Amino acid sequence: MKVVAVENFADPSFSADLIGWQKVHGRHALPWQNTTDAYLIWLSEIMLQQTQVSAVLGYYARFLERFPTLRDLAAAPVEDVMAQWSGLGYYTRARNLHKCAQRVVAEYDGVFPADPVLLAELPGIGRSTAAAIAAFSSGRRAAIMDGNVKRVFARVFGIDTYPGEKKTEDAMWRRAEALLPETGIESYTQGLMDMGATLCTRSSPSCERCPMQPRCVAFATQRTKDLPVRKPKKATPEKHTVMLAIVDNGQVLLEQRPPTGIWGGLLSLPELAGHVAAEDDEVADADHGALAQAVGRFGELESYDRLSTVTHVFTHYKLHIAPYQVTLARRQAMAAEAGYVWCDAAKLAEAALPAPVKKLLLDLVGDRREPQQRMF
Ligand code: ADE
Repeated sequence: MKVVAVENFADPSFSADLIGWQKVHGRHALPWQNTTDAYLIWLSEIMLQQTQVSAVLGYYARFLERFPTLRDLAAAPVEDVMAQWSGLGYYTRARNLHKCAQRVVAEYDGVFPADPVLLAELPGIGRSTAAAIAAFSSGRRAAIMDGNVKRVFARVFGIDTYPGEKKTEDAMWRRAEALLPETGIESYTQGLMDMGATLCTRSSPSCERCPMQPRCVAFATQRTKDLPVRKPKKATPEKHTVMLAIVDNGQVLLEQRPPTGIWGGLLSLPELAGHVAAEDDEVADADHGALAQAVGRFGELESYDRLSTVTHVFTHYKLHIAPYQVTLARRQAMAAEAGYVWCDAAKLAEAALPAPVKKLLLDLVGDRREPQQRMF
């Protein structure tokens, strides 16, 4: 028989405790509170996306002086809106704000709809912002979900999967819907925001003052530092290559790299195609036949020696280089081999080589410059 787990996130005492706390300890005098004017509330919610209250206050007051009503904003040139927004950052918000004002004038005769579903169809208003506007301006029961709420939920309910991941985020939304109070949505919504911003902060939560402390899983298990779970780091991809340091008569054979791609346009060592990884940070030894064949283009192979693996870390991957020092019995005339040069060992330090290749070669042949010229 298939057993299906039924999630039951409902718990009326959660909203009751939060509302009780908000009424006594929450914020009640922010400039966008104590009003049901959707224009004033919408503007604050857009400004408060990705921006803290302290940074918004001055902009909010100046913006409303310049655009006292939604119609003033809709009728203004977008340049004036951008100028008022200048310094607040995330400028798409300002462009969408202007578009949204024009849409509300054109489609709703200048009155924001009360339905959060309709609000969320307007430019710059996502599901959470729509819920906040609907709750504060019309008392509609709708759930908010932003970074602060995710942090509160992750800690209170001990959610130990990354909230940025769709499955976790979807479950958080379902939980948020299930926890909505029957009455008092304004205090509840403000309470969630206030808790996240003033008590349940990222790095030093004030658990001793928190109304959720008795039910908080993170507090009980001493995991406030570990919750919410941080974005999992992607493993750095690892690449492997075999490089041939063919040394002959005081010179090293260098190859011109293609103009684009890593080390584009620089000189480097010839590489052996088709090498394989041995372990994470190692490179399989080159196959003797493949090595002899590759060297054959440049001369007659006398001997070779596997040098230690060099690992170079790029921003997006790690490159493990297995270098081989190769000695030739006889050098092949190079006329036909465009893109290759024999470089005097003494000139390696000045050659246009990638840093790890230059280091490898100077370690190999010895730095032949005068000591005062050595920069690395
Ligand atoms: N952040 C987002 N909305 C907010 C609001 N209404 N009050 C305080 N901070 C907020």
